[in-house]
Amino acid sequence: MAMYNDKVMDLFMNPHNVGEVENADAIGTYGSPVCGDMMQITLKVEDGVITDAKFKTFGCGSAIASSSMATEMIIGKTLEEALKVTNKDVLDALGGLPGPKIHCSVLSAQAIKAAIYDYAQKNGLELEGLKDYDPNADEDDHHGEAKDEE
Ligand code: FES
Repeated sequence: MAMYNDKVMDLFMNPHNVGEVENADAIGTYGSPVCGDMMQITLKVEDGVITDAKFKTFGCGSAIASSSMATEMIIGKTLEEALKVTNKDVLDALGGLPGPKIHCSVLSAQAIKAAIYDYAQKNGLELEGLKDYDPNADEDDHHGEAKDEE
């Protein structure tokens, strides 16, 4: 009967790393093209290693649980290592989400990429994991394409 496993429920009820890192070195936001919800990730980076990560979201419980897990997973990793953390890794660590909620886990993965991109831009870094990253993908849906309805 339960849609969510205990780990997901626990992280939804008691999420870790909620809020904003003080004096953040990087900030990334991502809006889901699927549901319209938003995610913000702030990072503290020292010597190329993520020492702190926090999230704020308008997303649902699945987004909260995913972001809690994703931020835990990237703290202590180098920027390149963090870029390799996919939403699939987060889903596996969570023990899965119900099918219609899988897109919610994409929010944190994409916001983390956006934050690392922001850090790379500010610091003139070229990161292998950002080679194919397009900061305007998806998020610009509403003004990037002509709409014929009025
Ligand atoms: Fe939008 Fe889950 S429904 S983040």
